[in-house]
Amino acid sequence: MQLLLAPSYLLWMLLNLLLLFTCVAAWAPAQQTFATEVQPQAVAPPPLEVRPLFLSGPTGNRVDLVFLADGYLSSEKDKFFADALFLAEDISANQTYNTVRPLLNFWAAFTPSRESGVGKGGRTKDTVFGLYRDGTELRGVWCNNTDIARAACESLGDGCDYPITVGNDPLYGGSGGYPTVITASPANGPQILRHELGHSIIDVGDEYDGGASWGYFGVNAAQNASRSPPWSHWLTNPSNATRVEHSVMPLQQYTWTMLNTSSSWTTTFISSGTFSKYALFFSVSGIPNTADLTIKVDGQTLPWEVRSNIGADRWLYDLNFNRGLSGGRHTLEYRLNNKTLEGTAQLCSVEINEFGSEAEFISKPGHYGLYPVYSDKNTTTYRPTNEDCLMRKVTTPNFCSVCKEDLWLHLLQRVDLIDNFAASCRTGSRFLTATVVPFGRFRQPEDRKAGEEYTFQWFKNGVRQMQFDGMVEVNTGSGTAGVGRWAFRAALKTDEVRRDPEGLLTNERQIKVTAIC
Ligand SMILES: *[C@@H]1O[C@H](CO)[C@@H](O)[C@H](O)[C@H]1NC(C)=O
Ligand SMILES: *[C@@H]1O[C@H](CO)[C@@H](O)[C@H](O)[C@H]1NC(C)=O
Ligand SMILES: *[C@@H]1O[C@H](CO)[C@@H](O)[C@H](O)[C@H]1NC(C)=O
Ligand SMILES: *[C@@H]1O[C@H](CO)[C@@H](O)[C@H](O)[C@H]1NC(C)=O
Ligand SMILES: *[C@@H]1O[C@H](CO)[C@@H](O)[C@H](O)[C@H]1NC(C)=O
Ligand SMILES: *[C@@H]1O[C@H](CO)[C@@H](O)[C@H](O)[C@H]1NC(C)=O
Ligand SMILES: *[C@@H]1O[C@H](CO)[C@@H](O)[C@H](O)[C@H]1NC(C)=O
Repeated sequence: MQLLLAPSYLLWMLLNLLLLFTCVAAWAPAQQTFATEVQPQAVAPPPLEVRPLFLSGPTGNRVDLVFLADGYLSSEKDKFFADALFLAEDISANQTYNTVRPLLNFWAAFTPSRESGVGKGGRTKDTVFGLYRDGTELRGVWCNNTDIARAACESLGDGCDYPITVGNDPLYGGSGGYPTVITASPANGPQILRHELGHSIIDVGDEYDGGASWGYFGVNAAQNASRSPPWSHWLTNPSNATRVEHSVMPLQQYTWTMLNTSSSWTTTFISSGTFSKYALFFSVSGIPNTADLTIKVDGQTLPWEVRSNIGADRWLYDLNFNRGLSGGRHTLEYRLNNKTLEGTAQLCSVEINEFGSEAEFISKPGHYGLYPVYSDKNTTTYRPTNEDCLMRKVTTPNFCSVCKEDLWLHLLQRVDLIDNFAASCRTGSRFLTATVVPFGRFRQPEDRKAGEEYTFQWFKNGVRQMQFDGMVEVNTGSGTAGVGRWAFRAALKTDEVRRDPEGLLTNERQIKVTAIC
C-alpha cells in the first residue's frame, strides 16, 4: 500500500537478487564463498495443521495459495482459520480473483506461536515466522524467518505455490515478496493481500504516485507516451493512442508525522492555476472520528468523513473537488482536535493532484488511455485507467482489464485447462473422457460469467471429428472404431482476455488407444 509498498518492493527486489545470486553462485565456483554465506541454512518445517478453504482442483494443476499463521497461540487456532477464510473470501468470493478462482486453491495451515501478535520497534516476538514492524507506525510488516516460511511451503509439495504469512494483529501492515506478509486487519488485510498478490502473481508494478521510478513496470506501465502502450488493445479510443490525460501532481509526501493538538502540521505547494479540478489524497491512522481531525486548504476547512468502524487502523482517503486551485502558493494544514489521541494519531501521507476538465482528463471508470503517474522524483510514466485498478487505488477491490488479462495469462502458464483425459471401456464400447477446469458451463450456475465459454474439438489420427464438437465425453464405438491416436482440444474464450500471444487459452491432450474393448 502507499507507504509500505515502496520499501516492501525494495525488499522484494533484494530478495530476488539474493535468490538470483544464490542460484548463479551454485553454478559458478568462483562465487562459492559468497554462495556459502548467503545460502539459507536448511531448517525444519514447522508442524502444519492444513485445512482447505476453497478448492477448485488437483494441487498439481492449480496455483495454490496457503495462509500461514504467525502470532496465533494454540488457543487462537479458531481465530486463525476464521481470519484466513475471511481473507480468501474477500478476495475471491465475488471480486478481485473471482473470475480466475477455478485456477486457484486456497488453504490455511496453522502452527501455534508462543506469543500472540506481531513484533514492533524492530523486534520480533516469539512467533513462528517472526513478523514485526520497524516502529509502531502502521507501515511495513516484515518476516524475519523467511527460511521457515519457505520450509513450511516446501513441505506441502505442489500444494503450496504462494505462502502468505498472516500476522495476528488487527491493524494495517504487510509487504510483498516471499512470503507475502499481511495482517488480519479487517479493513486493510484483504486490500494488502490482493495488491501484493498482484505484484507476485502478475508481476506488475505499482500505479500510484510517489513510488521509486523503478517500481513502475509490467503490462500496466508505459514509459513513453509517443509509443503504443502495452495495453493498446484495450484503449477506448485507439485512433488517438498517444493522447495523454491532462493532470499534474504539485504535492506528494510520505509524512509519517505524529499529530498533536498544540500545533497543526502544515505544508505548502504551488498551483499553476490552469486546471479545472483538484483532489487531496491522504492517509491517516489513529483517527477514529471525523471530529478528531480538521483539514484546511488556504484556511478553508475541507469536508471529510472518517471511514466507519476504522478505529485506530489506517485508511486512505480521497477528497475530490470539482473546482480548480488559483495560481500561486497554497497551504495545506492538518490539525488534531482530540488530545487523547496524541501518540497514536498519525498523518501518514499527503498528495494533491490537479486535473483538466472532463474533456482534457477523462475521469470516468472504464476509460482506457494514458494517465500520468508521478514518481517520488516527479518523473512521469503512464497507467491505463484513472482509478479502475487496485494497483493504483488499494481501496478499489478490482484490477483493471489490463492487469486482469495478464493475471489470466500468468495463471494459465501454470495450469492446463484439461485436468484429465482418459480412455475406458463400457458395454463393449470405447469411451474417451476429458475433465476440464470448471469454466463456462462447468461453473456453478450462480457463478457463470457472460462471455465465457469453452469450445471442444476432437481429432482421430490428426483428422477433426466434427460430430464430437463441444463434448467432453465421447463414445467412439466398438471394435477397431476406437483404436487410434486421439486428441482432445479445449479452447476457452473470456471477455477478460483479448490477446493471448502464447495460446495459453488453448490446450490439447492426446491418448493412443491400441486395445479393442
Ligand atoms: C462483494 O461482497 C462484499 C461483502 O459482501 C461487498 O461489500 C462487495 O460490495 C461485493 N462486491 C461486489 C463486486 O459485488
Ligand atoms: C531475526 O532472527 C535472527 C535469528 O535468526 C535474530 O538474530 C534477529 O535478531 C531477528 N531479527 C529481529 C528483527 O528480531
Ligand atoms: C519516445 O518515443 C519516440 C517515438 O518512438 C522517440 O522518438 C523518443 O526518442 C522516445 N523518447 C524517449 C525518452 O525514449
Ligand atoms: C486526440 O487527443 C487530443 C488531445 O491529446 C485531442 O485534442 C483530439 O481531439 C483527439 N482526437 C480524437 C480523434 O479524439
Ligand atoms: C512535478 O512537476 C510539475 C511540472 O512538470 C510541477 O508542476 C509539479 O509541481 C511537480 N511536483 C512536485 C511534487 O514536485
Ligand atoms: C506538534 O506537531 C507539529 C507539527 O507536526 C510539530 O511541529 C510540533 O513539534 C509538535 N509539538 C509537540 C509538542 O510535539
Ligand atoms: C477523543 O477520542 C476518544 C477516543 O476515540 C473518544 O473516546 C472521545 O470521545 C474523543 N473526545 C472528543 C472530545 O471527541
